[in-house]
Amino acid sequence: MADIPEHLALPNRAELPSEVAILRERYPRPEWREHANYGELSAFWLHVHDSLRQQGRALQEFTHGFREDDCSNPGEFQRRFMPSLGQYLQHLEGHHHIEDSHYFPRFRSLDRRVAFGFDLLEDDHDIIHRGVTTVVASARAFMQALSRNADAARYAADAYVDESDRLLRLLKQHLSDEEDLVIPAMLEHSERPLR
Ligand SMILES: [Fe+2]
Ligand SMILES: [Fe+2]
Repeated sequence: MADIPEHLALPNRAELPSEVAILRERYPRPEWREHANYGELSAFWLHVHDSLRQQGRALQEFTHGFREDDCSNPGEFQRRFMPSLGQYLQHLEGHHHIEDSHYFPRFRSLDRRVAFGFDLLEDDHDIIHRGVTTVVASARAFMQALSRNADAARYAADAYVDESDRLLRLLKQHLSDEEDLVIPAMLEHSERPLR
């Protein structure tokens, strides 16, 4: 995997430069679905990303709501929160695992011009994985604090919300940048070589 320059690392970028997303201009996002090579895999990829965004937002709203409600009714929150978070993070990590092990190597060999972009996305996955580990630790501390007292609960809720909002910001950037690489590459070469 290529070394990733600091300014292109996930926390430091707002979008991929055009020398990395080299096919983005040729295949503008609003026209993707009309293209003859837009097939099931592209549609599925975007669907998975949308469900990750939507699940992430739902969890975020659930936690923010609980915190704004002064962490009242912690029993009910605890019952729903850890299973939902666990399911979400498993979905996310499972998706990244398939990309790293199956799809990204195929994209790299399919078109050397986009190979660096996939190194960058793999580096994003490492950064996101470290964020997941931090969020899990922070969620556990949050759950323990709920059974102590109201101040401890509020403090731990703030710490958790900071970590999880940060992770979701990184993920949002990653999903959108990945789409800018993956979908144009499939439109250019068709989906067949990736299966
Ligand atoms: Fe990814
Ligand atoms: Fe993805």
